[in-house]
Amino acid sequence: MSIVFSFPAYETIANSIADEKDMQRGDVTIRQFPDGESYVRLNSPVQGQDVIIVCGLDKPDRKIMALMFFAHAAREMGAKSIGLVAPYLGYMRQDKKFQDGEAVTADIFAAFLSQIVDWLVTVDPHLHRHEKLNEIYSIPSIAIHANDLIAEWVRVNINRPLLIGPDAESEQWVSEVAKKAGAPFVILTKIRRGDRDVEVSIPNVATWHTHTPILIDDIISTASTMITTAEHLKEAGMKPPVCIGVHGIFAGDAYENLLTSGIENVITCNSIHHKSNGISIENIITHAVMNIKSNPGLLTI
Ligand code: R5P
Repeated sequence: MSIVFSFPAYETIANSIADEKDMQRGDVTIRQFPDGESYVRLNSPVQGQDVIIVCGLDKPDRKIMALMFFAHAAREMGAKSIGLVAPYLGYMRQDKKFQDGEAVTADIFAAFLSQIVDWLVTVDPHLHRHEKLNEIYSIPSIAIHANDLIAEWVRVNINRPLLIGPDAESEQWVSEVAKKAGAPFVILTKIRRGDRDVEVSIPNVATWHTHTPILIDDIISTASTMITTAEHLKEAGMKPPVCIGVHGIFAGDAYENLLTSGIENVITCNSIHHKSNGISIENIITHAVMNIKSNPGLLTI
């Protein structure tokens, strides 16, 4: 038997998993004390059970202590194993030392999380210089993809789409979505000069004027990448683009800035709860977890 717990805002995904055979829903209280410290209490017994916790790791600094407390408490209460479903996996972008003295947080965070839980399932992690999660995670770590769902959304909603990836690493998901949606695609190049300062190459879209541009990226954080690309498309005389982000972080006023930058619409997956959510990933996550349940071999590295 497995028991599925949820951090706040991940109930839809946790309920979807818990609806399956041999799964039950667990109850946990997670809150912050007035001084900002975390309080965690498991209200359901977990003795001898496989515990699954659904906790997206956007804004990871606010959640990681509570996640660690949860895992410690579950082990102390006799949990057989602890699996983490993190629809968004944070701390993947600083995957190398760009300047002397920098912490390579992707590696350090992966090592830390690998000590807390026994396995990990996530959706489209930002794999750039690392090809696989297991290059930095020492626990079985499974990455699933939202490509099919995004392709389906494009097929159903957009007539004559032209998919555009803003940088080299986006080619991995843009090319897959394009293949599945039967649409052409263009990949641009990007130079990041600072957190909010990016330079994106001018797209050569002369032959695509009758198409609707669809910008696809894995993460929308400050939205600088999307906004800069949208400006180029406007200058090139293209229609206003639809922006699709797998994970909509929307730091600060990024969402409002994006909406007023001359785009048509912005759609994200519900890996991070947001009003732009238009693509539901609970079914693919549930399928991945059930696959692990029926093939425990997937959890051997
Ligand atoms: C990084 O290369 C990612 O794939 C995204 O392009 C990036 O995180 C987007 O960030 P922002 O919205 O801040 O431009």
